[in-house]
Amino acid sequence: MFRVSERGAGIGDVTSADQLAQGRVRLRSSDTWIPEAMGEACRRAAAEGVVLLKNENAALPLDGSATIAVFGRVQQDYFAVGYGSGGDVRPPYQWNLIDALRDRDGLQVDAELAERYAAWCAEHPVDPEPEWGTWPRSHPEMPLGAEEIAAAAERAGTALVVVGRAAGEAREQALEPGSFYLTEDERSLLAHVSEAFERTVVVVDTGNVIDLAWTREHDLDAVLVAWQGGMESGRAVVDVLTGAVPAQGRLTATIAESYARYPSAGHFGGPDANEYVEDVYVGYRYFETFAPEHVLFPFGFGLSYTTFAVDDVSVVTDATTAVVHATVTNVGSEHAGAEVLQAYVRAPHGVLGRPRRQLAAFAKTRELAPGESQRLVLRVALEDVAAYDDAGATGHRSASVLEAGRYEILLGTDVRAASVVGAVEIESLQVVRRLSEAAAVRPEHAFDRLVARTGDDGTTVADKAAVPTATVPRRERVLAGLPAAIARTGDVGITLGDVAGGRAELDAFVAQLDDDELEALTRGDFTMDSALGAAGNAGALGGTSRSLRDKGVRALTTTDGPAGIRLATHTALLPCGTALASTWNPELVERLNALLADEMAVKGSDVLLSPGMNIQRDPLCGRNFEYFSEDPLLTGRMAAATVRGIQHAGLAACPKHFAANNQETNREYNDSRVSERALREIYLRGFEICVAEAAPRTVMTSYNKINGVWGHYHHDLVTTVLRGEWGFTGAVMTDWWLREAVDPDFPALTNDAYRVRAGVDVNMPGAWRREDRHGDGSLLASLAAPEGITLGELQRTARHVLRLVLSRVPADG
Ligand code: BGC
Repeated sequence: MFRVSERGAGIGDVTSADQLAQGRVRLRSSDTWIPEAMGEACRRAAAEGVVLLKNENAALPLDGSATIAVFGRVQQDYFAVGYGSGGDVRPPYQWNLIDALRDRDGLQVDAELAERYAAWCAEHPVDPEPEWGTWPRSHPEMPLGAEEIAAAAERAGTALVVVGRAAGEAREQALEPGSFYLTEDERSLLAHVSEAFERTVVVVDTGNVIDLAWTREHDLDAVLVAWQGGMESGRAVVDVLTGAVPAQGRLTATIAESYARYPSAGHFGGPDANEYVEDVYVGYRYFETFAPEHVLFPFGFGLSYTTFAVDDVSVVTDATTAVVHATVTNVGSEHAGAEVLQAYVRAPHGVLGRPRRQLAAFAKTRELAPGESQRLVLRVALEDVAAYDDAGATGHRSASVLEAGRYEILLGTDVRAASVVGAVEIESLQVVRRLSEAAAVRPEHAFDRLVARTGDDGTTVADKAAVPTATVPRRERVLAGLPAAIARTGDVGITLGDVAGGRAELDAFVAQLDDDELEALTRGDFTMDSALGAAGNAGALGGTSRSLRDKGVRALTTTDGPAGIRLATHTALLPCGTALASTWNPELVERLNALLADEMAVKGSDVLLSPGMNIQRDPLCGRNFEYFSEDPLLTGRMAAATVRGIQHAGLAACPKHFAANNQETNREYNDSRVSERALREIYLRGFEICVAEAAPRTVMTSYNKINGVWGHYHHDLVTTVLRGEWGFTGAVMTDWWLREAVDPDFPALTNDAYRVRAGVDVNMPGAWRREDRHGDGSLLASLAAPEGITLGELQRTARHVLRLVLSRVPADG
């Protein structure tokens, strides 16, 4: 473990949240206060997220009396999180694996080997501050001869080999040894160790799925994937190794037998554009439909230290829902454990074609002692797995539909193991929701997509079909939604506190604002680390001008991010998104984020730029560690839990990146070309669930283009779908720094004017280029110009931003 004091910074004297909250002390960069329960909560979450993939000969939990020889330099230089804004947190301490093992009573670690690694790592230190985007994906391994390994096997019965990987923002995982693949040194270490030792346990410390075909090649007794677990990583892994926390994590993405088997392979990483040819067949939806034989470890899979029986299954159905009850019993005799029941729907192919399984509900037991049971309830609503007809094949173009046929309900402990427990018959096609075409593929970018059809022998076959392309003229749609202006009153002395206290209407406050004030609300304070917020913040918005602050509009501080509060001061480093999702425990994720909100309040963050919730489309995406899953339901539920936790006391969460931000390569320019159906069923669906369940106060757009339009100009996504269809009422902000463009339908609008017309409220951090400390003037120039932006649009944005600020303004403010 390191503590900040050991790294030269003094442990700060701040020990009480009260002192801080009352403003009696200010945080210095050496202060190490975090909420009291935070360490334990991080540790529990990281442990629950560890996925046990293999456990033979009862290798785990570790037998307390055995001596363990620990191999792999990552035991020291543990990867606790990935890189970039989702990882760059300064924790007050961090547990690596070897210190956590040595710290645990009752475990014997082979000291000779541990010291050899410690000395070698000290002589070959890892770069503590690599340049942005050049971070190491792994560290060179300590060379170790076969004789030394054999000698260690004389001293210890169990070998623990640790393999470590990291990827991050602006840094994809690569199809190379040392990244997606093992290095020669790692292979030879595994080969020699597994040959020499009676028992070999492998811990994979990673944020991304990596190649795991080697788990079949060597004589390994146990393999666990420990998703980067934040500052408590080491202790959490030891909790699982010893059984203090029984293994219970479940995979949130499919692990295929090789990279080439993923349906996105060949259509990922293109610098200019990527065609999402796999369409809705992402992850297990693809494998279970077309290629089950190429799966190494299925979605939802994970072993326990005990065995569970699932029985007394009852399914009560009505026209479009099924409620499944089942009893889970720990039928083992030695160890406690927790099980995750997963309900999938197998929809009839109809004319649209459907994935053979779609997750529709899940529920996790508490920790059950041997012999103990728990009854679980899973509610499946078919409308949640309706298909979106973007081609009009059912006669209902732009509608979510349930085609006629038998909808089977499957229950199991992973996608592959799930079996049919009931069915709902839909007699004739039902239109679940009539929507309108939005964000469709441009005609000039047409491509073929994968579709499933029923073959002559009744089995499912893969086919290709042309993706439907856009037909709706955007200009008319935008014009139809232009808001009327509120008549201006000039300053009549209403403060935002008056609005908070119910003494004035928000519109009356807005009516007072002049052009400069309205403009100031549509952007941040221009720069990261704004002087208006705590040191190291990501930027400030809201009261970015003196005159706004004089009217009671506070400046809100934004901070990254998903792994903890990114500030200059020390803050808790949380388990990564994939680790949290692997717990399949939204309540725990909500509790953890509620603690994070307490920390935000103390440290001066109003808006946390979290959760990261893009779909893990391809295992190489550098930021997958921040994201939750390849599945939109699990993603949406985890994101909603995060948002509820963060927002429980008036602070704001900012789900990101809306939408289809699925790669880091040339992320500010590449175009995600994706059918409207795949958008709605996969890439937008998690956001939709999150908005419906948790009402986030803000949302962040993505860097990339979606079917030719940058996220920060996307009227269809932001105004038509997010606000219009889902009823989102918060503020939409951009990802940091924008690409200049002219509105194709309103040539008088460029840059900020184009953005505001699209319904994207706040340009963050406010300037157009990193080095600037000012805007580009496009907004107010447009307000004065013919066919320019209208006062009503500026006032609409002001309303969205002020509503957000109001959640932080006391009623007597
Ligand atoms: C990232 C966002 C992050 C923002 C502020 C961007 O580079 O894509 O996720 O919140 O920076 O740090």
